[in-house]
Amino acid sequence: MNEQARIVPNNLEAFWMPFSANRQFKQAPRMFVGAKDMHYVTADGRRVLDGTAGLWCVNAGHCRPKITEAIQRQAAELDYAPAFQMGHPKAFELASRLTTIAPEGLDHVFFTNSGSESVETALKIALAYHRAKGDGARFRLIGRERGYHGVNFGGISVGGIVGNRKMFGTLLTGVDHMRHTHDPERNGYSKGATEHGVELAEDLVRIAALHDPSTIAAVIVEPVAGSTGVLPPPKGYLKRLREICDQHGILLIFDEVITGYGRMGTAFAADYFGVTPDIMITAKGLTNGVIPMGAVFASAKIYDAFMTGPEHLIEFAHGYTYSGNPIAAAAGLATLETYLEEGLFERAKALEPVWADAIHSLKGTRHVTDIRTIGLIGAIELESMAGAPTKRAFSAFVKAFEEGLLIRTTGDIIALSPPLMVSEAQIGEIVDTLKGILQGLE
Ligand SMILES: Cc1ncc(COP(=O)(O)O)c(C=O)c1O
Repeated sequence: MNEQARIVPNNLEAFWMPFSANRQFKQAPRMFVGAKDMHYVTADGRRVLDGTAGLWCVNAGHCRPKITEAIQRQAAELDYAPAFQMGHPKAFELASRLTTIAPEGLDHVFFTNSGSESVETALKIALAYHRAKGDGARFRLIGRERGYHGVNFGGISVGGIVGNRKMFGTLLTGVDHMRHTHDPERNGYSKGATEHGVELAEDLVRIAALHDPSTIAAVIVEPVAGSTGVLPPPKGYLKRLREICDQHGILLIFDEVITGYGRMGTAFAADYFGVTPDIMITAKGLTNGVIPMGAVFASAKIYDAFMTGPEHLIEFAHGYTYSGNPIAAAAGLATLETYLEEGLFERAKALEPVWADAIHSLKGTRHVTDIRTIGLIGAIELESMAGAPTKRAFSAFVKAFEEGLLIRTTGDIIALSPPLMVSEAQIGEIVDTLKGILQGLE
């Protein structure tokens, strides 16, 4: 054993934390050691209300018995089965069950271990689909400014967050981006889809004309951009993207890693907006965040295009050691049962107007410049401190944690997305805590 490990069992240095201010954290660590339902418990024994469902993933609330027990049972019964050329019943059962809640026509499911892997899988399916159909000249992928599609190379290439792209070289070639839809001047303080901006979908027409539509394989968007600060789409925008894609033989991919599994008050954002993509990317709420797992949904048209050629050959050269892992599959099944038995998607739908009114009541509070809500998602945009962008929101985050509330920040935007079991009283608590913090912030 390493000598230092013996001497300093709780040394924080070794763990290089993801997407974190490592040095700041290690000076004043914020540690969770337990969780139940709507609350975390800190290392010093305080309860912290979860205003963000962990990282937008714990949609059913924490340590739910059905999910915990399913994982325990599965770990004792069948811990692992090879993912390639072998199967186990729960992966098939989960895929079948998922297709019953998916938008009509999305009949096939490919399992991954994360949102980022689901994005790569979806992009590869799109490219390989066209090639399988003898249309290999369709190699371009179109994303959108301010889009977040995870952190792998395909995802950051189609993604549109500068800070996530600029350090990593040339990225994928053959990628272009539509403009983002954020327009606070015209759409300030919005509830639901925004009023203005449907014309921004015509950017796809412009890009298609520039490259020639016959070179474009797919367009990928988040129905509601989440990580970049909660940007709901303009009314009619997604429908228009669907029309343009249909017109030009382009596949439409929805990245529903945040919006999936009830966050919008419907199973998926595709249901909320009445627009069905050809490929749908999910993760997070699939297993309630408890075990890493992602699922990519594809239409029969796409799946069938691969099911040709000699039957002993692998049709799609792609997959992960842990695709459909038994314990993850068991967690997914128990999560789905929890959502359905407790009517959590309907609960989120019923709460949407209550949530919207409560968050919008922060209008006029010190530093607040815009508020956006949709489903059980909210964003409160703050005026940046002169010369120190992100500092004010980060201070709010640290203060909120000290006062017993977990929020998330991106830039100078506070993002909220509580578990779907949140009560009206807890929504009030979130708002009151934030109000006090914002009023006291420099
Ligand atoms: C829309 C979207 N896509 C992809 C991802 C990446 O998911 P993961 O962190 O599981 O790789 C995220 C994560 O927040 C996301 O919000």
